[in-house]
Amino acid sequence: MSKPFYITTPIYYVNDRPHIGHTYTTVLADVIARFHRMRGEEVYFLTGTDEHGQKVEKAAAARGITPKQLADEVVANYTELWKTMGMTHFRFIRTTDEDHKAQVQRLFKRLLDKGDIYKSTYKGLYSVSDEAYVTETQAKELQAQGLAHQLVELEEETYFFRLSAYQDRLLKYYEEHPEFVQPDFRFNEVKRFVEGGLQDLSISRTSISWGIPVPGDEKHVIYVWFDALLNYLTGCPANSWPPDLQLVGKDILRFHAVYWPAFLMAAGMFQPTTILAHGWWLMGEDKMSKSKGNVVRPDTLLRFGNDALRFYFMRDMQVGHDRGFSYEGFMDRLNADLANGLGNLASRTLSMIQRYRGGVVPMPTVLDDLDREMAQQLLAVFPEYLEQARANNFHGALDTLWTYLRTLDGYIVKAEPWKLAKDPANDPKLDAVLAILYRALRATALLVAPVMPELAQTLWESLGHATNVAETTFHGFALDGPAIGPIGEPKPLFQRIDKEKEMSEPETSAAPAETKPALDVPEIRETVDADTFFKVDLRVGKVLEAERVPKSDKLIKMKVDIGLEQRTIVGGIGKAYEPADLLNRLVVVVANLAPRKLMGIESHGMLLAASDSASKPYLVAPPADALPGFLVK
Ligand code: MSP
Repeated sequence: MSKPFYITTPIYYVNDRPHIGHTYTTVLADVIARFHRMRGEEVYFLTGTDEHGQKVEKAAAARGITPKQLADEVVANYTELWKTMGMTHFRFIRTTDEDHKAQVQRLFKRLLDKGDIYKSTYKGLYSVSDEAYVTETQAKELQAQGLAHQLVELEEETYFFRLSAYQDRLLKYYEEHPEFVQPDFRFNEVKRFVEGGLQDLSISRTSISWGIPVPGDEKHVIYVWFDALLNYLTGCPANSWPPDLQLVGKDILRFHAVYWPAFLMAAGMFQPTTILAHGWWLMGEDKMSKSKGNVVRPDTLLRFGNDALRFYFMRDMQVGHDRGFSYEGFMDRLNADLANGLGNLASRTLSMIQRYRGGVVPMPTVLDDLDREMAQQLLAVFPEYLEQARANNFHGALDTLWTYLRTLDGYIVKAEPWKLAKDPANDPKLDAVLAILYRALRATALLVAPVMPELAQTLWESLGHATNVAETTFHGFALDGPAIGPIGEPKPLFQRIDKEKEMSEPETSAAPAETKPALDVPEIRETVDADTFFKVDLRVGKVLEAERVPKSDKLIKMKVDIGLEQRTIVGGIGKAYEPADLLNRLVVVVANLAPRKLMGIESHGMLLAASDSASKPYLVAPPADALPGFLVK
């Protein structure tokens, strides 16, 4: 027998309650898990929380509670949400679980004995907000963005993992396993990163205590990413290794596509088949994240139903790409596709079968060209949907299906069944129309069951089934088979949302901006006198040209008009802005900053941007009627 399909989500940090970014990953995993079950596979689905590390230690200290108390509190939020949402994971793993701690220590010890881990001294910078060591180049970029204050100098005895020894092996593995990272463009980024050279990785800390102790050297705790990644091992039953699919956000791909396979190579274990990196839910141009105070919590959306949120996630986000969230877009999608599209089609079809055939689904005897065309389209749409879903492309699959449902609306308009019903001579044609619509709905219930389990079940029952739709497998399903019996009680599938009313409510009329947590706001810097401050020449500039600096994902080179002259300025804003977004934008320039070289390009000035210690920069914008050259004072 083949091994169970093993799928994982990242484990979530416990310094925040879940927002829709986290919810999205888990929904995607759950949809995929359900889809594979309906393919007849056994599925093992793991999710959980990442509870150690400096971030959590600090967050707990700020609230005067222990890290474990903080973790317990946040974990309850996650487990309750997943329960409400009907997630079908088998285990919710916590990195504070005893079996996990033992596993991490065991592997640490094994790699130490093997020589893959060794003790030395780390001297350099560390970013607490990313829980990551920072290289010289990365530090320079943060400096350029005015974010250097989020770095701390570290000089401490540490255990290193011999990552450098795995560079060639990783590259070879990537070469031989083109499906290892998806999408391809992300895989290329990973390859370029590894080709750029790998340094040994510091994997223990002595300056924090909230973590798993190094066995036999307890003043060290194990680095949070070494600890966290191993959850996939701890949480996996012996018969399920290796993972078939590991879902991650693009921000944590490097940890999963470089460190994780290297740890597994060192441990002599099989690699996961595919690591799938999805994009972010954005608010405006920014990643939705706690530190930016722009998060949307799932509870504000779940009042429209669990399935509505699941459908919106799957339908609107193309896996791999970013997607902007808006309440309006959310409501429009649900009204168009669920209240109108599918909901309408189902209620029309069921009421016609009820009215014209007393609830008994007819068997068609004659098909005309149009009927045949509709029936054939279903035979093509069904496998196409399954193929797209198997490639984890639910966005495409749902698009395929909804395009077909729209065609059926047109078919009803053309066939005019209400007219056919008036003359018994048209009975064969009416039978054909009703049977085709019925079959389309039956296939739809089956196909959407992984995405919208409750809605699919309601539809399935309305179509006359007494079984659980999720227990039906796709394979071998007779698309043109007869109905199982008379149709059941038609139930509405989705209540249309009153958008006007919703938009006037405070919860949806604007993003519920949450209060920023004190933790991410940096300390006030040391006092300077007014003379010192006024030495800084700040003035309005206008961006004339912008392009990315090759080999840097952060730096953008711009030509900026500052009234008297045009300047070349290199800014570390490439993660927050695309060059095209910058053109003709008014900015505030520090005009008398000594020139400095960034990745070989001389930068004459700096742009002011707002951010806290964890977020990306927002460019400070002068009013629209300001002109290049105006002094800012
Ligand atoms: N604890 C680490 C993961 C360790 S896995 C061994 C972590 N946790 S996290 O809570 O910060 O993020 C968890 C996941 O949520 C990541 O995959 C991240 O990409 C995802 N998301 C967080 N914000 C997101 C959006 N705005 N949009 C989509 N997903 C995002 O990283």
